[in-house]
Amino acid sequence: MATVRETDMVRVCTLAELQREPMRVTTAAGRAILLVLHEGRVSALDNRCPHMGFPLHRGSVKDGILTCHWHHAKFDLASGCTFDLFADDAPTYGVEVRDGEVWLDSRPVAGDRLAHWLDRVEVGLEQDIPLVLAKSAIALDELDATSEAVARAALFGLRNRRSGWSQGMTILTSLVSVMPVLAPGDRPLALFHGLRHVAASTRAQPPEFDLEPLRTSETRPERFQEWFRYFVEVREADAAERTLVTAISVLPPAAVADLVMAACTDHLYLDSGHTLDFANKAFELLDRIGWDHARDVLPSLVPALVRSQRMEETSSWRHPVDVAALVHDAAAELMLMRRDGGPAMGWSGHAELASMILDGEPTDVLTELLRLVHSGVPLTELSAAVVYAAMLRAVHFPTSNEFTDWETVLHVFTYANAVDQALRRAPSGLLARGILDGAMAVYLERFLNVPKRAIPTPSGARAGAAAILSAFDTQGGVDDAAQAAIDSLATGDDEAVVRALGRALLREDGAFHHYQMFEAGIRQWSRFRGTSVGDQVLLGTARYLAAHYPTVRATGQTYDIAARLHRGESLHEDPPG
Ligand code: FES
Repeated sequence: MATVRETDMVRVCTLAELQREPMRVTTAAGRAILLVLHEGRVSALDNRCPHMGFPLHRGSVKDGILTCHWHHAKFDLASGCTFDLFADDAPTYGVEVRDGEVWLDSRPVAGDRLAHWLDRVEVGLEQDIPLVLAKSAIALDELDATSEAVARAALFGLRNRRSGWSQGMTILTSLVSVMPVLAPGDRPLALFHGLRHVAASTRAQPPEFDLEPLRTSETRPERFQEWFRYFVEVREADAAERTLVTAISVLPPAAVADLVMAACTDHLYLDSGHTLDFANKAFELLDRIGWDHARDVLPSLVPALVRSQRMEETSSWRHPVDVAALVHDAAAELMLMRRDGGPAMGWSGHAELASMILDGEPTDVLTELLRLVHSGVPLTELSAAVVYAAMLRAVHFPTSNEFTDWETVLHVFTYANAVDQALRRAPSGLLARGILDGAMAVYLERFLNVPKRAIPTPSGARAGAAAILSAFDTQGGVDDAAQAAIDSLATGDDEAVVRALGRALLREDGAFHHYQMFEAGIRQWSRFRGTSVGDQVLLGTARYLAAHYPTVRATGQTYDIAARLHRGESLHEDPPG
């Protein structure tokens, strides 16, 4: 508890006045404070209900409990602590009666704010209460404790979901990674979106119970990889998980990453790319919260890995061209080549290769990829070219396609991006097979660019963030958003375009794919920044997001209420008496 400083003490009324009016509002340090005389004791609390700001002096007191009359949250009058988890604890103030006069400490009683708000994150996640999560995100951002909040939420999301890694976990991890490019004021909002989706992903889910590592003397990476890939192949989840937790306990991180990524690419384009994308995100999360948490994080990948649909079992990968067989042959050849993802050699053929991937025949594309590997082009340059080709599908996507076809484009782009990011983290020949099936996934969606929508040219209008955002206000504003983005990019301020797209994302009720598209777009924009490729990545991102907006925007409304409460604004007109 803070020490009372005499200089902070202000005389607010007499005890006699309080006896005549036992619930009386005063003002100190710009805040409305409720004084309550109850059972012979004077208490002081912030007059705004911590739930949604209703004036507490319109509530009632009975048996030491203050009840807010709006949503009936109840508070212990003496401490301000709430009995109802959807509300928060009400800030209290020190108060003393001296010679019949009531003196108030104008500073709220301070506890450990960091511990308090991290606990509130946990409550918000457990009870799935968006307003609590919004307030926590704002407070923790102010305390510069976003990392602690992310770690707390991530571990909660992993512990409380037996079915494994969730969309909420991907959203949280994605948003944290793009925070640096967002406008500073949008960063706590991004954290709120992440927390909200972790809560939604764990709702009504059974908890996860850990498996123990094998008590084995085995330490060879190749043996663990062999076991893990076999158990995934035959869809034995427990055996695969026990192998993985054992590997985590004896192998270095790079060997564990190799093992997981090998299993993710043993079959083609697993689950429309989600399986590898989730795995990549899990490793990104570990980069952020530390390898010590590998046993909490990585086993969550196993359920999806053993369940995933294998695309070679689908007709589109077999007929009329047996693309699956072509990829398998090319992958076998790739395994025989030097493939160290070695030093960049100034290769800049991304646009040319992407054009071939978009419009070429499968055998020609695979042959060219192998030729480039053989000639020493780093794998990460080839993976980047595949991502660019995948993004060009969104750039050229005509709105005459069915709306749901946007998701086909999204899946290929985010898969190719995941392969690219994972290769940058831990280059591996087995993982490089993802370059091949990624390129073929782009080939298989070629009908979505018939006819190709042309890339707009700058109109000369001095567009900016406002023009971009206004294009997202109307359904079907895909081409308007693209034009506004191109006009803004022509001014040379691509960071402003990125911030505007971030704002567009965060003011909506985002769905899983929207976050995926934005994050992957930002990754590739960063990779190709300052080139026409980088600009086109932003253009494709803008077109995809514009196709899905506007939504109801209820998330933003909840956040605004939390932000106004945090700033101490009055949400309800109620002047002090
Ligand atoms: S309970 Fe007080 S504002 Fe909702």
